[in-house]
Amino acid sequence: HISRRNISWIMRRNLSAHVWGILKEAGKIAYGLGFKLYAAGGMIRDVMLGQNSIDIDLVVEGDGIKLATAMSEAFQVKIRKYQQFGTAQVIFSEDLTIDIATARVEFYAYPAALPQVESSSLHQDLYRRDFTINAMAVCLNDKKFGSIVDFFDGRDDLDQGLIRILHNLSFIEDPIRILRAIRFEQRYGFEIEKQTLNFLKEAVRQEVLAKVTPERIWEELKHILVEKEASRMLRRLEELKVWPFIFPGVNYWEVDPVLRDLAGSVDLIKEWGFWVPTEKWLPYLIALLHWSNPETARQICERYHLSKRQTEKALAALYGWRETVAMIWKSPEDVKLSQLAKQLMTMPRESYPMLLAILEEDWIKDRFRQLLNTIMDSKPSINGKYIKSLGYRPGPVFKETLEALWQERLDGNIVNEAEEKDFVRKYLARLTEGAVKC
Ligand code: CTP
Repeated sequence: HISRRNISWIMRRNLSAHVWGILKEAGKIAYGLGFKLYAAGGMIRDVMLGQNSIDIDLVVEGDGIKLATAMSEAFQVKIRKYQQFGTAQVIFSEDLTIDIATARVEFYAYPAALPQVESSSLHQDLYRRDFTINAMAVCLNDKKFGSIVDFFDGRDDLDQGLIRILHNLSFIEDPIRILRAIRFEQRYGFEIEKQTLNFLKEAVRQEVLAKVTPERIWEELKHILVEKEASRMLRRLEELKVWPFIFPGVNYWEVDPVLRDLAGSVDLIKEWGFWVPTEKWLPYLIALLHWSNPETARQICERYHLSKRQTEKALAALYGWRETVAMIWKSPEDVKLSQLAKQLMTMPRESYPMLLAILEEDWIKDRFRQLLNTIMDSKPSINGKYIKSLGYRPGPVFKETLEALWQERLDGNIVNEAEEKDFVRKYLARLTEGAVKC
């Protein structure tokens, strides 16, 4: 059935004025071209949950490319066209692109004929989607702006907190939906509806995930690893027996306690101001590989085409965490600060949340914070520029000298800039044979 309710006021409240304006205008442009225009998918779900949404997914009953072209002219922005699929992207800024698809039915007139693409019903477009809560649309055309199209009772499921597939073969057709079901379930604190859960388990049992390329799995995993509830999602992947298909050879239970504590640890590190994450998923990956044998960890990194640098970080953390944690636990009389700093330097910053989670107790976590503070504060005030000014040509000797200087600073043997300069000059003089002076 089609719900006649109108949610334009909810959209007004939850969307930015900019996005609201674009949707209003897009509706008018489409109307002028004689097309029906809808916003669909995740955006409708999020708006109804009272959340802002930046993913905008439009469906046109008409010609998507024509509409995108008209929008790019009206808003003076760029578009990308994918002629063969009848889709386009209108690019408003780096953070705001709008996907436009043509609602269509692919049909074969007779066997071996080429598929003909015909503009057709919105129903077909929505029916191809994953879950009822993601298969609602809202009309954007002038008079009907904001009226909901809800063929599959997505709104009821949203109210009841249920993740439900649209048809029995959904997980077989697109096994990635197994991971998506778990992601949405944990993100919103929903439940996977009973029948859907049975189909999900059956699909896992049939090993459908083994047929998906690692690239597609990794795309979805990255989404999971940046979610607030990432650790719950990982646990659920284990519970539902999905884990062996995504992290073969990794024992989930060995890393469960650390994963549970990871989000809190990431927050703490941020609060302390030590690290601004660029690849937000990396601390999770590092944490979930840290108990594995190096060969397994390397294989996982390879499977998901991690870069050399990312792989090295994961392995360095795996090799170094035991020693690092042991040193942090030692009393300051038993371990020199310079030794500790040296050890810590072997660990990538993305492993700090994991280290904190392993340290567990608050007082020792606080010692870790103090250590990091002291290490950062002891950073020498002079750098490579000073060595250059002495006439040395940049090379390995720079790094060695600056590291030696840092060690001396940490152990309190050097306390001011004059002493730093003095140390560097003498150190370099001793090394001159190895260094090339201009
Ligand atoms: N979709 C689907 N099956 C998939 C991926 C996506 O049916 N395997 C559909 C859903 O309708 C989804 C829409 O495409 O709402 C957009 O997909 P995407 O942007 O990946 O997800 P969102 O639902 O927007 O989720 P998120 O909030 O995580 O971006």
